[in-house]
Amino acid sequence: MNDFERIVIIANRSPFSIITEKNKKTLIQNSGGLVSAMASLSEKMIPALQKQNHQIIWVGNSEFRKADFEALEPPSKSFDFYPVAIPEDIYKNYYHGFSNDTLWPLFHYFPRFSIFKDSYYDAYVEANRLFLKQVEKIIRPGDFIWVHDYQLLLLPQMLRKKFPKANIGFFLHIPFPSYEIYRLLNRKWREELLEGILGADLIGFHTNDYTQNFLQTVRRILGNDNTIRKIFTPERIIKTDAFPIGIDYNKFFNALDDKAVKIEIKDIEKDLNNCKLIFSVDRLDYTKGIMNRLTGLEIFLEKYPEWHDKMMFNMVVVPSRDTIPRYQKMKREIEAAVGRINGKFGHLGWRPIIYQYKSLNFEQLVALYSLSHVGLITPLRDGMNLVAKEYITCQGKNVGVLILSEFAGAVAELGEALIINPNDSNEIAEAIKKALEMELEEREERIQKMRKRIESYDIFAWAEDFVNQFQIIKKEQSMLDVKIVNNKIENRIKEDYRTASNRIILLDYDGTLVPFSRSPEKALPGRGVIEQLKKISGDEKNKVIIISGRDKKFLYECFGELNIILIAEHGFLIKYPGSEWSAESEMTDNEWKKNVKPLIKKYADRCAGSFIEEKESALVWHYRGSESDFALVRSQELKEELMEFLLYHKDLQLIEGNKNFEIKKTGYDKGTSITKLFQNQNFDFVLAIGDDRTDEDLFKALPNNAYSIKVGLIQSNAKYNLTHQYEVNDLINKLIS
Ligand code: UDP
Ligand code: G6P
Repeated sequence: MNDFERIVIIANRSPFSIITEKNKKTLIQNSGGLVSAMASLSEKMIPALQKQNHQIIWVGNSEFRKADFEALEPPSKSFDFYPVAIPEDIYKNYYHGFSNDTLWPLFHYFPRFSIFKDSYYDAYVEANRLFLKQVEKIIRPGDFIWVHDYQLLLLPQMLRKKFPKANIGFFLHIPFPSYEIYRLLNRKWREELLEGILGADLIGFHTNDYTQNFLQTVRRILGNDNTIRKIFTPERIIKTDAFPIGIDYNKFFNALDDKAVKIEIKDIEKDLNNCKLIFSVDRLDYTKGIMNRLTGLEIFLEKYPEWHDKMMFNMVVVPSRDTIPRYQKMKREIEAAVGRINGKFGHLGWRPIIYQYKSLNFEQLVALYSLSHVGLITPLRDGMNLVAKEYITCQGKNVGVLILSEFAGAVAELGEALIINPNDSNEIAEAIKKALEMELEEREERIQKMRKRIESYDIFAWAEDFVNQFQIIKKEQSMLDVKIVNNKIENRIKEDYRTASNRIILLDYDGTLVPFSRSPEKALPGRGVIEQLKKISGDEKNKVIIISGRDKKFLYECFGELNIILIAEHGFLIKYPGSEWSAESEMTDNEWKKNVKPLIKKYADRCAGSFIEEKESALVWHYRGSESDFALVRSQELKEELMEFLLYHKDLQLIEGNKNFEIKKTGYDKGTSITKLFQNQNFDFVLAIGDDRTDEDLFKALPNNAYSIKVGLIQSNAKYNLTHQYEVNDLINKLIS
């Protein structure tokens, strides 16, 4: 954290609420995993940061003003808080609406609960803008801006547009669903939301599954490819990764020795009457599987009457979002079920369920964790579930057993819990019995293993990991920045061009002179491109070469009239203005095509949207028009088959192009094809621009004084990079104007 002077946490939920009790205003900490995690992080970090004059700032929603907060004594003085006021009508549609009635259910795999309304989305955009406005006022260069959660998916990109160089991290505290679920969102929203997140430099999720879902969704919706969890956009490399959020382990562990906690424990013990305690605590939410838990308990009570009078289930439900009708309805259902089960099994001296609808303070929470024999956590979906980690950490002399849903993110780290499917009520019932009857030795062994993991990757390790990864990706970005053609480099190129008298300009075609198109025959040079080529090739000091993988017919039709040297099929054919085409080598043996073509055809037939192109010297399988994930699988399969074939045909080679595979003879490439052009020539200005793998051979073959430029931010043999294809046309225009 030390490299950043200030950390700006931006989250919808503010750390505190102002409440009025007995005519006195006080601050209380808000509930929920995000606030718990970020508040303890800030609390612990602040002394170290303050020593170095560092600062944490929290920007969150509140109708109160900054001064109102400052007038009150905070539960812990850990950060500077800047409230963002959102007018009530917008807030309703942004928070209750798009955040919690559209995104929350959808991302938690409750698509039927999701409501798709333009007014919700419009308010969401507006609320994100209001956050932007506040952040704009306070951020300084060098700040680490850390945006949190699904309420602010658009904010990273909004910030990026205003502050292109800003350090922006984003963390999602809820699951990222599979593509099939995400795509249920309206086309416009689903694209804008993804682009919004991609404004960040580092994007964190709780689990690898969520990360993979995100990467796949970005590829399928926006078309950005990824390798080793990095996404390549024209402007930047963006890193994504899993950072399973932790808890303040020491705070919870040490609390077991706290006087106040011990008093709580004594109080609760009195009420237990030697019953074994089962405990759960969650916010009121349909994702938490509270009804499933009650059904499981009911089956347990029915099946195992020997446990009547010997156990108690304390179910605490923390008030949350209870102005949303679905939450209100669920609350009524829970209360009815609790009443029914207690009525069915209870008697004057014993009730199986003690239900509380309230929030707990820290001491009460730790006391209940530590006293309970069973922690019963049954979400239908949960990003992480911190309660599970807190429960494990607070196991004192009782040594309880954790029953955990397989749909909580925490399950990836807590494999020694009794893992259940919350939809299977019988499994819950059996797990309760097993947990209540488990021997001490086994309980201890399970708890110890999980505790170790929670201790070593606590909330501080989590934050440090995130910031370290952030710095690594920033370094990678800046290494690329150095190579990007900036004003200074551009001026140098222009100046060298101006003063040179014998210039050579080598231009690739697809992805360089013109953008890619789904079908190659549609990627034609527009009038602008032809005009600029006419102009640049009309200067007698220039030798212009178009060096492409295209066949001779296409190149001739497009550029045959111009004073340009054409090199087709990646260097196999060359044509000087006014002359005929000549081949690099005699293509006597075309037998290989007869063997390779059926092999590729098999894939072209099985992968809709792909097709074969036959050139004089090569066969190409194009899959740009196919559904990207499926094509990726097919291309890997084809690659394997081709590699095997090539083992026995050393005179052939496979080239992986941009959404295509090309099989061609060895012995020539774009690099070899230009060597003749340079023989006995002394060019005082050399410029070569290309975007794909085959252009690397060209870059390598150039003399040292050449300006070689790769289109796209990809590692390359070229000296410089341009981020977008259209910048190639801009650069040529600047040279000729
Ligand atoms: N918690 C709380 N108030 C309470 C009870 C619990 O703030 O009355 C805390 C609890 O300690 C935990 C967090 O709320 O840190 C809940 O986080 P979790 O990840 O389990 O669920 P989320 O609320 O994020 O869905
Ligand atoms: C989850 C979300 C948080 C949210 C919390 C409480 O943990 O990931 O973003 O703050 O629930 O919900 P609330 O709507 O009260 O902020």
